[in-house]
Amino acid sequence: MDLAKLGGDRIFFGEDATSALAGLPSAKKRAFIVMTGTILEDLGLLKPVTDALEKGGFKWEKFDKIEEDATFTTIKKGIEAARKFEPDWIIGFGGGSAMDAAKTIWVFYENPEKTELAEVAVPNIIPKLREKARICCIPTSAGTGSESTRVAVVKDVDKLQKFVILCMEGRFVPDIAILDPRYSISLPRGLTASTGADAITHAIESYVCTLSTPYSDGLAISAFTLAHEYLPKAVENGKDVVAREKMLVAANMAGIAFANSHLGITHSIAHSFGGELGVPHGLANAITLPYIIEFNEADEKTLKRYRRLASLVDSKSLLDVVKTLNDKIGIPKGMKDFVKDDSAFEKRFESIVSKSISDICTLGAPRVPTPEQWKALVRLAYYGK
Ligand SMILES: [Fe+2]
Repeated sequence: MDLAKLGGDRIFFGEDATSALAGLPSAKKRAFIVMTGTILEDLGLLKPVTDALEKGGFKWEKFDKIEEDATFTTIKKGIEAARKFEPDWIIGFGGGSAMDAAKTIWVFYENPEKTELAEVAVPNIIPKLREKARICCIPTSAGTGSESTRVAVVKDVDKLQKFVILCMEGRFVPDIAILDPRYSISLPRGLTASTGADAITHAIESYVCTLSTPYSDGLAISAFTLAHEYLPKAVENGKDVVAREKMLVAANMAGIAFANSHLGITHSIAHSFGGELGVPHGLANAITLPYIIEFNEADEKTLKRYRRLASLVDSKSLLDVVKTLNDKIGIPKGMKDFVKDDSAFEKRFESIVSKSISDICTLGAPRVPTPEQWKALVRLAYYGK
């Protein structure tokens, strides 16, 4: 038996989707907002959120200490703050990091007897959810789709490892997602490109992974075609509200697609470069994707699916489509461009390879590399070609 969980209770999208916050069903009327730093507040973008909450009679508190790449050390402080405030809504407001941090705070808020990430991360089951609070996510970048996925990724700095919290039954999918383009207008060009490329990678990997379903396929196709059209526009002109809104929708659909299927080794390699060398997730995916498409083309069934996607954007080759798109939005050919220190890469090479092999996303790969192929792919992702 398969199970499709196509997002949370509701997805509000479009201009002024934020006003939906006033109507969140709530007995205690207490909302705890999780953010990465003060930048949103400095830009005046927290106010629409708090205005809507106050209109609905909510008291709110913010926790804005989350880093760009959320660490468990900081998340623990957020858990303590949430316990003191006792919210019945937790709101993740920001990029993937803020939303994943909010989801993780929610897990520990609901399960105070748990103290370590390993206790709630895969393969363990999250015991309780929604006994104390529900969760709403408001993405400010169009990328991870975390506002509608059943997964959160958190870094443990001491172990140089990313933990994955996941519930396959869909209980971990946020109740409400709010896709309001006003928050992504100010996202810089580089971040717009890399987060958008993450969304495209979700769509493509979901579509060809071993666990794709007709439900995930439908969403992946829509996400891919939307993102292909609107990502270059959003990168070119950040103030293009239509492009911003379409990208939020594309990223959300791609998130639901992979949450109902799986990903692949582009993500395995991106996770390892992120954990070992701090390469941002979207950028690592964008760089790695063409090399993995080329590798997977040797599998006939996958190649057929790639061709089907390419045909939707009037091309014969998905590899050409992705390469052209990467050039258009300014993605470099290798992670060397970001890391800059080859000796740091060489020192971590074996570890990057072994973590990629054991990464959870490798389970979805339509073609699994041999040990030698893994090494070659990791080198390609770093040095480019
Ligand atoms: Fe991703």
